[in-house]
Amino acid sequence: MSNQLTGYQDDNQTITLSFASSKDLILKVLTNEIIQVFQDHGCPTNSYAIEGNKQRKTNYTVENKGDHIEVRTGALIVKAYDDAKLDVYDADGNPLVLDYRGKREPLPTDMDDEHRKTVMSEGHAVHAKANPDNVNFEVIKSLAKDEVFYGLGGKTGFLNKRGYEYDNWNSDVPVLHNETETHLYKSIPVMYGLKNGHPYGLFFDDTYKSHFDLGKESDNYYYYSAVGGNVDYYILGGHTLKDVVANYTYLTGVVPLPQKWMLGYQQSRWGYSTSDQRVESIADGFAEHNLPIDVIHLDIDYMYGYRDFTWDTTKYKDPKAFVQKMKQRGIRLMPILDAGVKVDDKYDIYKEGMEKGYFVTNPDGSVYVGSVWPGDSVFPDFGNEDVRKWWAKHVKFFADMGVCGVWNDMDEPANFRAKGQLPDDLVFHDGVNISTHAKMHNVFGHLQAQATYEGMKQATRKRPYIITRAAYAGTQKYSTVWTGDNTAVWSHLQLAIPQLNGLGLSGFAFAGTDIGGFQEDTTPELLTRWIEASLLVPLFRNHSILGSRYQEPWAFDKQTLDIYRKYLNLRYRFIPYLYDQFRHETESGLPVMRPLVLNYPDDQETRNLNDEYMIGTNILVAPIVNQGATKRLVYLPAGNWIDFWNHAEYSGQQYIMADAPIDKLPLFVKANTVLPWGNKVMHVSDNPEKVMTFRLFGECGSTKHYQDNGQDFKYQQGEFNEYYVEVTEDGHVAVKLTKHGYKPTYEKIYVETDRSRYEFTYHADTDEYELVNER
Ligand code: GLC
Repeated sequence: MSNQLTGYQDDNQTITLSFASSKDLILKVLTNEIIQVFQDHGCPTNSYAIEGNKQRKTNYTVENKGDHIEVRTGALIVKAYDDAKLDVYDADGNPLVLDYRGKREPLPTDMDDEHRKTVMSEGHAVHAKANPDNVNFEVIKSLAKDEVFYGLGGKTGFLNKRGYEYDNWNSDVPVLHNETETHLYKSIPVMYGLKNGHPYGLFFDDTYKSHFDLGKESDNYYYYSAVGGNVDYYILGGHTLKDVVANYTYLTGVVPLPQKWMLGYQQSRWGYSTSDQRVESIADGFAEHNLPIDVIHLDIDYMYGYRDFTWDTTKYKDPKAFVQKMKQRGIRLMPILDAGVKVDDKYDIYKEGMEKGYFVTNPDGSVYVGSVWPGDSVFPDFGNEDVRKWWAKHVKFFADMGVCGVWNDMDEPANFRAKGQLPDDLVFHDGVNISTHAKMHNVFGHLQAQATYEGMKQATRKRPYIITRAAYAGTQKYSTVWTGDNTAVWSHLQLAIPQLNGLGLSGFAFAGTDIGGFQEDTTPELLTRWIEASLLVPLFRNHSILGSRYQEPWAFDKQTLDIYRKYLNLRYRFIPYLYDQFRHETESGLPVMRPLVLNYPDDQETRNLNDEYMIGTNILVAPIVNQGATKRLVYLPAGNWIDFWNHAEYSGQQYIMADAPIDKLPLFVKANTVLPWGNKVMHVSDNPEKVMTFRLFGECGSTKHYQDNGQDFKYQQGEFNEYYVEVTEDGHVAVKLTKHGYKPTYEKIYVETDRSRYEFTYHADTDEYELVNER
């Protein structure tokens, strides 16, 4: 019997649909291009991803069309039918998201217990098929033949997620991250689709464990299911895929403008922080080998027995003085901070947290004791606002030490007991409500990042630098991310590109991988190709595990060192460009690093392109990701493209064969691009730059360039400058200061074309640039 749609109520952009035998479905028109679908399953409705009221006054209509109710905005049409079925179209009537009405086609489960044992006796993993008993609800949508999927944060596998299944359950995954791993450290339940070329997005705002099957089970449908929470998802529309992505970041927030030096090179290894001498020896290595660097990361050994907010003074004579000394050498230090707090009656953080009842408990009220690096450990109940404030207060310890940020780790949270997790029934706060680990697990890292961000912001008044391994949708507002414990294998260099592109599409514009690979021994060739591939990846950090082969740039031969240096130097040239891109990201909500499909969604060739990425709209990077390769096919999309190295020009919409000997990264600039070109430096300075260069690729072009103090929030009060640099078709070159809100300006600006170099001087009296020389 069908579950009849019996009527609706329309109240100020909220349309409540009633059904004969199921709960109401609520459609909330947030904007012209965003409609929320909600069905109450008895859970509190606070969102951890979305902050503030995102509803805008929007024109819409609701009409009874006989067999369905139709809700229409200027961009989306939602048709609601019996059985609570919804179909969504764009304003031109193109189907975007249609509820599936056919039969399910489950994958075979033809294994009895005896066969299971036999299969496992050879050591094969036998995965349980998705267990329907645990599922609280499913949302099943029909799949078109050509439909492709993107997003989902930093999952394994390829750019196009069609044909794969994924789980959302933050987990410490110390094994090889290949496409059979359905979940890693982050849960970002947003997916984008192109259906017959028409873009849409779905964001499922539910922190409980959830599952996506994107056409693995059947070619006829895809589905999302969750073990708890409410049916609570957002239909994201827009003319282009970019609009859809921007709608997602409109909801969940953008990456705030970073401090400029965060874009510099960073070196890390588990093992450096065992003493101040060891850290200093790394800094010496960079100086000796003439390598630029901004940050050295301190892994867990700087602490007293892995106790959070401590610094072992038997290993560091005077930590604060040491941090200062390194800063004077131009190097900032970034300490790690773990989620688990050591059980130790003599340790103030533990004592204070116990007294205040700030750690998560068993259902019987006793504090849960798991195990992390310090042995027996307890876990802060970050769902409680008081706990976040307490944590933020302690984060001042790092600010007082003068370190540059905080690197949050093991915040899934990881546990060395109970199969790597905390038990589902542990008691957490969910704001003012009492809740369980099952609900709060996926936002543990998010809330720890939020507390850490707030703590650093209050204590330093600078733009905080936080890195986290675990995240939920929206964590990008507080923290950058890295992709966790990858491995020094070629398949992980290959994975880096779709993984970072997926993160970018999912709001995480500031992300990176462990360059060289974290686990296992890298090779000179792999390290070389990895640093090349990462040239324009926002988070630019080499990190490795204790006991693996060293992977500092000088750990191998002269060739490896020379090539590594070449790419570090090149990176610093690109920092003003990357900084401009971040400024743009904060305004547009679009990622800095992105797959070609975001810029060229109508071009079929871009839809499964796993081994290229773009920075903004004008730079295309096509790294070598295969051992031994010295050539590769590069797909160039529409437009003309200039080879960065020799300025050869190619027309787009074709594959070209690019030569890539070991020292060459295939890199292309869109014709008629003006690129800001940083000075050659060893570190990003806190002092304003006096000189800036702009390089023209092509015949003519223009750019808007952004400048501020690169550190604090004064730009939000208008303390920033904007420059407009233009080379016209007839060869006229102009430099204009279009906004002067930050006092220092460049004293000299050079504009370089293929033929000439133009020199401009700033005149304070007129606030203008004058062309003083051309050669
Ligand atoms: C985790 C982190 C890794 C770190 C190690 C020791 O494995 O992912 O980056 O080096 O812990 O702290």
